[in-house]
Amino acid sequence: MKRATKLGAAAALIAVTLFSAACGNNTGSGNSPTNTTNAGGEQTTAPAAGKVVLGFSQVGAESGWRSANSDSVKEAAATAGFELKFSDAQQKQENQIKAIRSFILQKVDAIAFSPVVESGWDTVLQEAKEAGIPVILTDRAVDSKDTSLYETFIGSDFVEEGRRAGKWLVEQYKDAAEPIKIVELQGTTGSAPAIDRKNGFEEVIKDQANLQIIASQTGDFTRAKGKEVMQSFLQAHKDIDVLYAHNDDMGLGAIQAIEAAGLVPGKDIIIITVDAVKDGMAAAAEGKINFIVECNPLLGPQLMQAVNDVLAGTEIERRIVTEEGTFTSEEAKAVLADRKY
Ligand code: AHR
Repeated sequence: MKRATKLGAAAALIAVTLFSAACGNNTGSGNSPTNTTNAGGEQTTAPAAGKVVLGFSQVGAESGWRSANSDSVKEAAATAGFELKFSDAQQKQENQIKAIRSFILQKVDAIAFSPVVESGWDTVLQEAKEAGIPVILTDRAVDSKDTSLYETFIGSDFVEEGRRAGKWLVEQYKDAAEPIKIVELQGTTGSAPAIDRKNGFEEVIKDQANLQIIASQTGDFTRAKGKEVMQSFLQAHKDIDVLYAHNDDMGLGAIQAIEAAGLVPGKDIIIITVDAVKDGMAAAAEGKINFIVECNPLLGPQLMQAVNDVLAGTEIERRIVTEEGTFTSEEAKAVLADRKY
């Protein structure tokens, strides 16, 4: 079984380190990396003795949510006493694949990553499996049919987030007879949150004939793209009633475009976003965003717990769902001062 193999590998590593030290070959000390020679005669750098080494491949730094998520992972790794190898993929799948391969070569104890897109992971995940390195997905899922390629997936239910956005909108317009024109700013094309938030939202509004999505385009989860795409929506459509943005940052960029067009965000155009990071909550408190669906970025402690459990051979849930809420403008105002991220 993999967990036993992992524990066996950790024990073997400690044995090799102790043996090298006894033979006077250990050039390191304390928790410093140790140079060892493998059976093929290649020089490799073994991880520091006694410390769990976790390789983490992050999507990038595209949003306030992402920064809060990176901080949470770094802080929790330090608290757990893990050595963290953190790699920023700059929103490119090929960079994440390179990082994972590098973690495998470095023989880390565990790999965690937040996949930029859902598809195309089977080969590299198979490589990790063959190397006996457990993989944990955080924040975003992969669409691999072989679920033995990873131990668990820790993160939000993005479909439910989309449904929450849709339900609020349906409630707002339940008595409206006229068509309500919605524009949608999608997240990164092919990413789990973009696919799921769209599906959840559409599932809820589809039976309301007057709620019509008149334009939908990616803003790549960034403020700059959110602004740019909203500008083009405003040029193409004179009568937008609602903006549904898949994250706060795109919504905040869109607000700039709406104001530049002489319109009042939150009044002339009703705005719904997802995340509830500090900047988004501040805009909601000001009435510029009408409704925010929360997506919790503080996944670090749960991730470190999962790594510990997997390496100890403890059975863990295959899916760990984050608990989240929603905020109207009034609710955002009430909690803004205490919002940590
Ligand atoms: O995967 C989570 C999403 O990614 C967040 O909603 C968004 O802000 C981030 O970039």
